Amino acid sequence: MRKFVSFSIGVLLITVVVYFTQAQMSDKAQLGRELFHDPTFKGTIKPGKGQGFATGLTCANCHADFDETKKPDGLIRAGHSIIGVPQRGSAKGGMIAGANFARAAGGGGFCYEHFLQNIPGDKVNPTAIPAEHAEALMAYFESVSGDNKGPEFEIEMLDADAKAAAGEKIAAMKGDSKNGWELFGRACVVCHPTPFKAGIGSQLVRSRPPRNIDSTMTRWATKIRGGGTLMPFYASDILSDQDIADILAFLRDQMESTAR
Ligand code: HEC
Ligand code: HEC
Repeated sequence: MRKFVSFSIGVLLITVVVYFTQAQMSDKAQLGRELFHDPTFKGTIKPGKGQGFATGLTCANCHADFDETKKPDGLIRAGHSIIGVPQRGSAKGGMIAGANFARAAGGGGFCYEHFLQNIPGDKVNPTAIPAEHAEALMAYFESVSGDNKGPEFEIEMLDADAKAAAGEKIAAMKGDSKNGWELFGRACVVCHPTPFKAGIGSQLVRSRPPRNIDSTMTRWATKIRGGGTLMPFYASDILSDQDIADILAFLRDQMESTAR
């Protein structure tokens, strides 16, 4: 009996200790979780229009905070899951590494300035994110990752020529418009609510179609694969060439059927 009591007290003590260390951890991680979903970043991103102001985007619009391969929710996000970020040790194809890695929230500091505040890519300072917020995001990434190393991928850094070549190749492919509509719903509506309505992204299909639909399609294919000023690029492991061709077939259909 006595043995059982001391055993139970031991188990209880361990449970209490584990509970409190986790609760302490999760304060920081909880802040990170809230920042991940907050376009104002706790009010530190300024409201307004143009460069340096809130775009309305959140980290969650472009990154899953869970393992998408194990528990897919059907959405297609431009960025990879943040699962495993702390284990990576470098980001942006090695451009963010060493002491800057944690300070830049594992690469998230780049997105913080570029996508949340519309600062041009070549002017972004990935360590401009407040230190407290970088720490909170990293704590959150750690708490949701555990020892899951996350997706393995290589960032393809396409130069202007490679983007144009990809666009021409895709625009020459035949696409399936019905599949394109489904892909559009899963990937694009977060910024383009429908092809006829502007959101954070522009209105794609207007009442009068462009004079040269083919060259528009090539330009659009280039933009989807290569990204725009605020529009994120879609790497080929996220949208294949055929996926993009399908989306373009859908947009072309909408253009032609609304033409008067
Ligand atoms: C508009 C879409 C978008 C938004 C919003 C966005 N990101 Fe990203 N992010 C990307 C893309 C695209 C990449 C390129 C690499 C990739 O595919 O993961 C990236 C890269 C990253 C990386 C580095 C991946 C690597 O290993 O190079 C991290 C970490 C990250 N983002 C975190 C964040 C955080 C934190 C936020 C919010 C402050 C955020 N992102 C907001 C699209 C976005
Ligand atoms: C995170 C927000 C965001 C997402 C997600 C997004 N876009 Fe965009 N898109 C934009 C913005 C903003 C623009 C305006 C110009 C720019 O940033 O380059 C744009 C512009 C475009 C254009 C060029 C329009 C023109 O007339 O030149 C096309 C085409 C386009 N988006 C297609 C797509 C497709 C297809 C998807 C889904 C695979 C998608 N976008 C996902 C934000 C987004």
